[in-house]
Amino acid sequence: MQHRVDNAPLQQLDDWDDFVATRYRQGKSEEEFRNYKADANPTVTEFYRQNHAHQTLDFVLSKKAEYCSLSREKKSIWEMAEYLNTLVDDSDPDTDLTQIEHLLQTAEAIRKDGHPRWFIVAGFVHDLGKVLCLYGEPQWAVVGDTFPVGCRYSDQIVFPEFFAANPDSDIPDYQNRYGIYEPNCGLDKVHLSFGHDEYIYQATRSYLPEEAQYMLRYHSFYAAHRHGAYRHLMSEQDERMFEWVRKFNLYDLYSKGRERPKTRQILPYYQDLVSDFFPDKIAW
Ligand SMILES: [Fe+2]
Ligand SMILES: [Fe+2]
Repeated sequence: MQHRVDNAPLQQLDDWDDFVATRYRQGKSEEEFRNYKADANPTVTEFYRQNHAHQTLDFVLSKKAEYCSLSREKKSIWEMAEYLNTLVDDSDPDTDLTQIEHLLQTAEAIRKDGHPRWFIVAGFVHDLGKVLCLYGEPQWAVVGDTFPVGCRYSDQIVFPEFFAANPDSDIPDYQNRYGIYEPNCGLDKVHLSFGHDEYIYQATRSYLPEEAQYMLRYHSFYAAHRHGAYRHLMSEQDERMFEWVRKFNLYDLYSKGRERPKTRQILPYYQDLVSDFFPDKIAW
């Protein structure tokens, strides 16, 4: 058992992903969905409490400055995947998938449905941004539903009551409908809470088509892609591209229960795929 520090309430980083998958379990009624708190164990609840309290506009800007210039290191996609695989928490190796297996499982589900190669490669890299955890970032700055900062919090975000503890709640300019943004200014101008989505988007954006960039950047923005919140900040282009975000989300959420991917068998395909899109090393 590892020593659990205060800012790491989740036993494993993937407990958050599992909570989201349960929250949107297929066939759930609207009423069951609204009762999402029943699916959240105390560690998940504590995780959201921290996430909503600490993700301020200032925090987001400082993390973007720190990571989004990609001046940390140069590594291949595979080196990063291997590095992410060293993230072992309290998971059970017999039943829990490794990080690479989750990526392969997502990508394989996309491939089986006959989607284009850029869609499959997006599935394969989508969670690589979780290496932020290995850089020493707390769980609440790596995973969690993302949401805009610098404007009013939507009540479509889970656990909205936890925003009361966020210092931005006391800044009136950040708490009206548009906050620091212009109507329909486009999400590219909107700062979302910081996490693995923004980081993998920044690291891979030069190599992937726009549809894939949207999938990576907004895959945890559930308030928008699942519940239609924040349309007043979105552009027409965002609206169009969110079709792809929604398409992608099904694979992220529902590929998990499937059988363990036959890694050795499919690896050559993924080596080819990755080298088709990415140079040997990219900036992180
Ligand atoms: Fe993710
Ligand atoms: Fe994922």
